[in-house]
Amino acid sequence: MKKIIIYPGSFDPVTYGHLDIIERGLKICEQLIVAVSSNPLKRTLFSIEERVILLKEVTKKMKNVQVEKFDGLLVDFLKRKEARIVIRGLRAVSDFEYEFQMVLANRRLNESMETIFMMPSESYFYLSSSLIKELVALGADISGYTPKFVENELKRKIPYAQS
Ligand code: PNS
Repeated sequence: MKKIIIYPGSFDPVTYGHLDIIERGLKICEQLIVAVSSNPLKRTLFSIEERVILLKEVTKKMKNVQVEKFDGLLVDFLKRKEARIVIRGLRAVSDFEYEFQMVLANRRLNESMETIFMMPSESYFYLSSSLIKELVALGADISGYTPKFVENELKRKIPYAQS
């Protein structure tokens, strides 16, 4: 059986930080599934379909990467994929509490699920989808933060102040 790893998240939108984690994850599995959450309680800039399209575009050259949307519980998605391992990126101490809570909540739902945390390259340590959205809204240059394709879609979505 193939060693599958699931990388779940909102990806609103995908950043170079996420791509860094995908590349690291690929080193320790045979197939990596990016699982895009369609949580209706979370307001997102991009629809679930758009987030999947963006991810598919920026990972199209990566072998062994699949992008799928999911709703409902992550543990149920894992069961459907016959997977047990999840990866998440961990940037700063501030990420820890939320991640810790999620691991424990998921463990209560499925004892056999394990989460591996990976640290992105230090150049992406401060990077987040929220930060990028704010920068675009303020008209700042985000070329080093996300691929051009995503940058263009962001600029179409967010009318930004032009000097
Ligand atoms: O990128 P995010 O928003 O930090 O990702 C959070 C995500 C999607 C991984 C998390 O909210 C999740 O797993 N959602 C699915 C619903 C679920 O299983 N919730 C219980 C575990 S906390």
